Amino acid sequence: MPQPRVFSGIQPTADSFHLGNYLGALRQWVTLQDTHDTIYCVVDLHAITLPQQPADLRRRTRVAAAQLFAAGIDPDRSIVFVQSHVPEHTELTWVLSCLTGFGEASRMTQFKDKAAKGGADAASVGLFTYPILMAADILLYDADQVPVGEDQRQHLELTRDLAQRFNHRFGPTFVVPGPYILPEVAKITDLQDPSIKMSKSASSPQGIIDVLEEPKSVERKIMRAVTDTEGEVRADEQAKPGVTNLLRIYSALAGEPIAALEQRYAGSGYGAFKKDLAEVVVGGFAPMRERTEKLLANESELDQLLAVGAAKARKLAVPTMDRVRDRVGFLPAR
Ligand code: TRP
Repeated sequence: MPQPRVFSGIQPTADSFHLGNYLGALRQWVTLQDTHDTIYCVVDLHAITLPQQPADLRRRTRVAAAQLFAAGIDPDRSIVFVQSHVPEHTELTWVLSCLTGFGEASRMTQFKDKAAKGGADAASVGLFTYPILMAADILLYDADQVPVGEDQRQHLELTRDLAQRFNHRFGPTFVVPGPYILPEVAKITDLQDPSIKMSKSASSPQGIIDVLEEPKSVERKIMRAVTDTEGEVRADEQAKPGVTNLLRIYSALAGEPIAALEQRYAGSGYGAFKKDLAEVVVGGFAPMRERTEKLLANESELDQLLAVGAAKARKLAVPTMDRVRDRVGFLPAR
């Protein structure tokens, strides 16, 4: 029995993944290797939908890949590659763009949010067609499932619609992927503003903890994380969102249920709890930090891993694109 295939992507837009990325996505990506045929992509084409300095993009692409390997994604069990290494992604995007209604694309809420932030002229056409590129990523590999957070649900719906539309018009070509909203996604919020998700674009540096961050800085941020005046370590999403977030982080990293933590810290105040949490976070990320640094110290070896990943990815993407070209009516090049 072949295992169901999973495809997911992450943008190389930061010098480190953060705690939210790790608990919300990466950790599940690692686990999925046991039960699924897994393909993970560093989506540099998506990254340039917002302006990037070339040197930053280059560095961050390697850092992203290194962190995937360091987190436990095994290049022998998963395909790990860089999106721009497989030109079929952009080629399929064009074909799918011609099947996407302008109004349909205009309804994507993430585009509206991002465009509103930068002002009308700051938003590029690339940012507008971003979800179509994402659809191409997924459909090229006949992915059955796509582990993404809630914020990507609408893009996944578009992917399904485009696959069905293409199949209906040109005959069965694409696997229609099922939604795969990550199970028990630890919803990690900003340390300074627990009403928003921990995110590179929305959070202040004080609100985010990076996987590759210096231990001293991690401690400082956790000690200063927003709590409340009650002084009780207990989870209550409504009344105590800050403490609840810290409990979630602790529980997820230490593998202990929240109830057990509430019991342990009953009556002990926030200081002791935060101090222990800082230790859990620093200790939890230390091996990944070390492995990432080691991988980054040998760039040519890392690039070689990515070259192998790209070759494996192309082996799957090229036949899909050939099928698409034929269905659409493009003449073979011979
Ligand atoms: N848009 C996704 C995000 O920002 C990243 C992404 C690009 C992706 N292509 C994908 C995720 C394909 C899943 C499948 O989180």
